Amino acid sequence: MTDAAKLKTMAGEAALGHVEDGMRLGIGTGSTAEAFVRVLADRVHAGLDVVGVTTSDRTEALCRELGVPTATLETVPQLDLTIDGADEVDDRLRLIKGGGGALLREKIVAAASDRMLVIADASKKVDTLGAFPLPIEINGFGMMATYLAIQKAAANLGLEGDMILRRRGADPFITDSGHLILDASFSRIPDPEALSQALHQVPGVVEHGLFIGLASEAILASENGIETLTA
Ligand code: A5P
Repeated sequence: MTDAAKLKTMAGEAALGHVEDGMRLGIGTGSTAEAFVRVLADRVHAGLDVVGVTTSDRTEALCRELGVPTATLETVPQLDLTIDGADEVDDRLRLIKGGGGALLREKIVAAASDRMLVIADASKKVDTLGAFPLPIEINGFGMMATYLAIQKAAANLGLEGDMILRRRGADPFITDSGHLILDASFSRIPDPEALSQALHQVPGVVEHGLFIGLASEAILASENGIETLTA
């Protein structure tokens, strides 16, 4: 196992300490969330009784492969705890998510949960969000008009930078819900709340990767051990 993989497993194992018998879990997407699913599966095989609502087809497939029981928000609409990774986390537990393209379902699932626990390696901790390009999920219809409207909304907040249509090989990347993603390199987002509100005003924006007021705790793994941030 690489050092990076060890840190993800460490964070996943620490997250298990928050999981109790009978819980309804939201299960995130990405390599750290997958490390959590692997340690969770061991506990399930040892008798832990939980059900997970997954945030992507990819995580759903892994849960099925490893025997972690899953449900959907249609049958289990309220969750006790969501455990998910992040691309950036600041000291107020504001996040950038969506590097794996699952931000829409991740946000719906986190919002349906009593608590959201972030698991990450400590390199994800930042003073100011924005070095990681902000994923913005958009409808395919009128894409260029949406692009320009986002650019204008951001410029009104003093934010500028490249916005690139995410691709998978030669084709546009399509999310599990059938949308496109723009990755916006603003470098620094000093007022994430204002940007979040502005993006939600743009028709065609389905969701964005700023998670504000959702995470209640973050477990950050480094060579020195686990650091916990709480809201
Ligand atoms: C998935 O869409 C993302 O929000 C992930 O949670 C985020 O990209 C973190 O992924 P890693 O755990 O692979 O770094």
